[in-house]
Amino acid sequence: GGKGIAILGIYVADTAYLAGRMPKVGETILGSGFSLGPGGKGSNQSVAAGRAGGKVSFISKIGDDPFGKMALEIYAETGVTPRVEVMAGMPSGAAFIFVNDQTGENAIIVYPGAAGTISIADVEAHRAEIENAAVFVTQLEQPADAALAALRIARNAGVTTVFNPAPANPFDDESYGLCDFFVPNESEAAAIVGFAIETEEDARRAGEEFLKRGVKTALITLGEKGVYIHSAEMNLRIPAISAAPAIDTAGAGDAFIGGLATALSEGREIKDAVRFGCATAGIAVTRRGTAPAMPERAEIEALLEREALV
Ligand code: RIB
Ligand code: NA
Repeated sequence: GGKGIAILGIYVADTAYLAGRMPKVGETILGSGFSLGPGGKGSNQSVAAGRAGGKVSFISKIGDDPFGKMALEIYAETGVTPRVEVMAGMPSGAAFIFVNDQTGENAIIVYPGAAGTISIADVEAHRAEIENAAVFVTQLEQPADAALAALRIARNAGVTTVFNPAPANPFDDESYGLCDFFVPNESEAAAIVGFAIETEEDARRAGEEFLKRGVKTALITLGEKGVYIHSAEMNLRIPAISAAPAIDTAGAGDAFIGGLATALSEGREIKDAVRFGCATAGIAVTRRGTAPAMPERAEIEALLEREALV
């Protein structure tokens, strides 16, 4: 492995609607805001890692359309190398994001578009990119067999692997044993283990289960409660790091993972890397949007310094 970060995942255009509540079926309600911007978990994680100072390449597929152009623009701005196939005759994906204008909470429907066709052959075409990275990251928005194939390549090359099983789609059990870091949020972890993650004890039990299935370190993200670390060496909760009140939590998990991947690619130890990810997310939730909300490295470092002083 080298020093870089290879990320496999999807890009979509996020269409975010602000409102006081979700409409019911058959109902129309007035919203209080709208924004269009780049999104998709793998793409957001790439932008987060790039802004945080990581050397990132993003492996994906997009459509030959205005949404796809928006992706290439943000990669150029953030120093992300796009290993992105532009597919003629296919649309880029899009996401409907409902954001509660009171609480900042969100609900999402994501349609992967061109990225939904990412195949094992596509992963094979980028084998060298994965093998030469220090850290490899993937999720479950593109087909799970492609994620598995990429995790195998990374593991065989001794690359540190980060698997974010989001959204909570089925995946092959072999994937667990290929994870240095398995990073679900509370609801994804709950969907796998079959019980709600409400207390630290629940997180510990879930972490234990993931370890039994072959994961080296489970990092269960707990929103405003921070991140629970579970491995053979440690089990503890790292508290969230808050820059200001949260106004939009969409993409918070992606911010965490981008920051984490950057810190890991620099050889930081687990707790420090988790803190770096927490600070990245702590800033992202104070801004509207997903990828556009990702902080610069200087902002992350300033927040970590401020935290160290309190
Ligand atoms: O994690 C947030 C992301 O999930 C959004 O950007 C949306 O596109 C969905 O993929
Ligand atoms: Na945000």
